[in-house]
Amino acid sequence: MKKSTQAVHAGTRREKNMGGLNTPLMSSSAIEYLDDSEVRYPRYFNTLNHDVVAEKMSTLECAEAGLVTSSGMAAISAILFGLLVNGDHVVLTEGLYGGTHALIVNELERFGISYSFAETSIESLAAVCTTNTRMIFVESPSNPLLTVVDLAAVAAFAKSRGMLTVIDNTFASPILQNPLVEGFDLVMHSGTKYLGGHSDLCCGTVNGSAVLIRKVRDHAVAYGGCLNAQDCYLLERSLKTLELRVRRQSENATIVAGRLDESEHINQVYYPGLKDHPGHEIAERQMRGFGGMLSFELANDIDPISYIRRLELVKCAISLGGVETTICQPVATSHQKMSEQERQRLGITAGLLRISVGIEDADDISNDLLQALG
Ligand SMILES: Cc1ncc(COP(=O)(O)O)c(C=O)c1O
Repeated sequence: MKKSTQAVHAGTRREKNMGGLNTPLMSSSAIEYLDDSEVRYPRYFNTLNHDVVAEKMSTLECAEAGLVTSSGMAAISAILFGLLVNGDHVVLTEGLYGGTHALIVNELERFGISYSFAETSIESLAAVCTTNTRMIFVESPSNPLLTVVDLAAVAAFAKSRGMLTVIDNTFASPILQNPLVEGFDLVMHSGTKYLGGHSDLCCGTVNGSAVLIRKVRDHAVAYGGCLNAQDCYLLERSLKTLELRVRRQSENATIVAGRLDESEHINQVYYPGLKDHPGHEIAERQMRGFGGMLSFELANDIDPISYIRRLELVKCAISLGGVETTICQPVATSHQKMSEQERQRLGITAGLLRISVGIEDADDISNDLLQALG
């Protein structure tokens, strides 16, 4: 089945009494266990609405098994703390979401886990790997500069050294990219973004082999980052329109990026769909569309805050992946916690603005972004 069909049907369990087409919301936290092969409890990640949405995501991500968590960060911490132990080393590609970066630099060493950041080429990754490296963690396309990682190459390199590969697939969504098919071991999402898609949910997902997911889940049960039944229900409902939304957002972003790229008031547009983007060819090979996220750097004479205030349609907000187009300034939001020195090194300047393109009309979005340039 194609992604659009999977998004609608996979996992969904019909309501048996009345024949309702939707999975019923099963909000009980006390569940009979004598006649079930499993003891079920919300924090064990195995109630009805959890199982259904985990199955839908497993189908969409071409995975054996899945876990749904209370946020994207809960998914990342379940993976890192579930699979790494004292003495292990993890390699991460540069340009990660600021919250992930903060988790790594502030928490890992307290648990005896060391880390290194590297650029995305195999040579750069290989240069920082040690005999204790257990995992490579990447984000592609990355936040906020849309760097693209060659997933098949990284997976092959890691396999040759017996290391696990994990990807944050939030920006692409399973509609545009399936990293497990490229050889990755685990894929996670901030479901708060495209999966939820309506800017009203906070959740995360992890997908991979049954063995790895069992291991992650065993630890996650102790950490307690499960998602409640109501939000699992809403996430399942949102996922049914994922393909429609993401395809439209991706088509819109391609148009918007092209129009911004023509403006003399913009220094640079970062979008993998543009032919001069360094990751364009890899993205073309491993993605089914370039996604709804793009960033651009304003000309030096334009004040970013005044620019944002001149926008009429596009809303200034953190988060991304919703049906409405939003803009934010990474230095004040996602990368606020990163040191100024580190931001400068990565190219995250005050004039860099990140856009999450929504499902509105592409001309309306472009016209608003261009009129505010002055
Ligand atoms: C790429 C990416 N990964 C992970 C996260 C963390 O997700 P959450 O806020 O759902 O914990 C975010 C949040 O902005 C993100 O953009």
